[in-house]
Amino acid sequence: LSHQLNLWLLLSSFSNFLEVTCSRPRDRCLLHWGGSWFHQKKLGDTVRYGCRSGYKRTDRATWATCTRDGWEPNPLCQEIPLCGRPPALEDGDVKNTTKERYNHSETIEYMCQSYYTMEGEPYRTCYNGKWTGQMRCLNPCVANEDEMRQHNITFKSNDYDKYLVHDEIIEFKCANGLPVGKVAMRQRCNSGVIVLPTCREDLS
Ligand SMILES: *[C@@H]1O[C@H](CO)[C@@H](O)[C@H](O)[C@H]1NC(C)=O
Ligand SMILES: *[C@@H]1O[C@H](CO)[C@@H](O)[C@H](O)[C@H]1NC(C)=O
Ligand SMILES: *[C@@H]1O[C@H](CO)[C@@H](O)[C@H](O)[C@H]1NC(C)=O
Repeated sequence: LSHQLNLWLLLSSFSNFLEVTCSRPRDRCLLHWGGSWFHQKKLGDTVRYGCRSGYKRTDRATWATCTRDGWEPNPLCQEIPLCGRPPALEDGDVKNTTKERYNHSETIEYMCQSYYTMEGEPYRTCYNGKWTGQMRCLNPCVANEDEMRQHNITFKSNDYDKYLVHDEIIEFKCANGLPVGKVAMRQRCNSGVIVLPTCREDLS
């Protein structure tokens, strides 16, 4: 019996020597491993796995493959890059108190200065080391009283503020005379620009 056991051990170590096997990886970045704890994997075998938070599977791999050089990809997990300080927003600011470094998938919220209007979603998210998200602050309009006087117009109602936010509608009326030209008395503030209608006394 002892002789048979010795022979068996000899044969099995010989076949182990020839056969490529991969054992369970000891990688501290692994979160879960689809393979069994005990069974060795053979050349070409694949195992599903996941990486712990802050790490991702290298090269977007969906599984690990047993190769002559061990498990591929190597390393199985790689660190997800961090983001730096969030980008500045013209005429706006970040609502949150800011940090030097952000983890993947952290989100921050922006806001515009008063009277400015946010165009786009007010969020940026750290994604693989880069900030995603696009927005801008649209200018308000300022009704210039000198220009209005030159155009012979005033506000239709006393309720109007001389600051108009983007897209706000304002109505003018003639201070004297009658409307001339094609510009309507009802105007919309468009990103800082408001077109003034004109009135003139009928001198004919
Ligand atoms: C990123 O996440 C890790 C763990 O998930 C945490 O220890 C670390 O403080 C975080 N870093 C930042 C900048 O929030
Ligand atoms: C920033 O504030 C928003 C809410 O205004 C919150 O949802 C978000 O998690 C905050 N981000 C950070 C990194 O603190
Ligand atoms: C405003 O009215 C005066 C008098 O009717 C006229 O001379 C002037 O041209 C008008 N302004 C404009 C910009 O048309």
